[in-house]
Amino acid sequence: MSYNTYSSLQKSLHWIIAILIIGLWCAGFSFDYLPKTSFKPYLVNTHKTLGVIVFFLVLIRILARIKHPIKPFQLPKAIQLMGKLTHIVLYALIVMMPLSGWIMSSAVHKMPSWFPLFIPGIPYSKPLAQTMRSLHGYLGYTLAFFVTIHICATFFHVWRKEPILDRMLFRS
Ligand code: HEM
Ligand code: HEM
Repeated sequence: MSYNTYSSLQKSLHWIIAILIIGLWCAGFSFDYLPKTSFKPYLVNTHKTLGVIVFFLVLIRILARIKHPIKPFQLPKAIQLMGKLTHIVLYALIVMMPLSGWIMSSAVHKMPSWFPLFIPGIPYSKPLAQTMRSLHGYLGYTLAFFVTIHICATFFHVWRKEPILDRMLFRS
């Protein structure tokens, strides 16, 4: 059976994860421009902690999505397909983004002391951390691109008076 609208859990996770990701993204790209005061390592460590939390929230969200499938909104098939593909890419990005950061930090044993959750089995390796650092950066740009498309598409549907946004709001 599939449903016409998202469950409250799915809606809550969508908005919590969206806010966290936008915050993490802004913090991530600010690192290079911050002066070397004690605030910088605090921000980097908070970024890592919240990033790992996002990873687990996304896993819960994917499970919730499997248990609560959503009917595609009645739109031309090509638009439905584009929406579906964008959502799949977004899911892949929001899994890979925290995972690459987590592997990068685990590989050089640089998880914050208050949240020392190294990924088990990752060997100490600077080259691995370097590769993950580049990947994390590229994924950051790709995520920004797809989130922009996603937000523009949402407002395009609002403009066409198609109640897509309502499916993700708490009033439906
Ligand atoms: C959805 C979650 C995350 C998002 C959206 C995100 C986003 C970003 C972005 C946009 C950057 C800047 C990249 C650049 O300058 O090229 C960054 C840097 C960084 N992120 Fe994340 N991040 C996430 C999760 C994590 C996690 C879980 C960790 C580690 C546990 C982490 C560790 C880092 C570190 C160490 C840097 C600095 C890398 C450098 O030295 O250039 N991130 N992040
Ligand atoms: C980092 C930011 C965001 C990410 C990663 C994200 C990700 C996603 C994903 C993966 C879905 C598919 C849900 C599913 O079918 O399981 C979705 C749905 C949706 N998102 Fe976002 N989203 C973000 C921000 C936003 C924003 C800012 C808006 C509003 C302007 C928005 C509006 C929607 C709507 C309306 C849907 C439901 C589409 C439908 O019913 O077919 N999202 N989002």
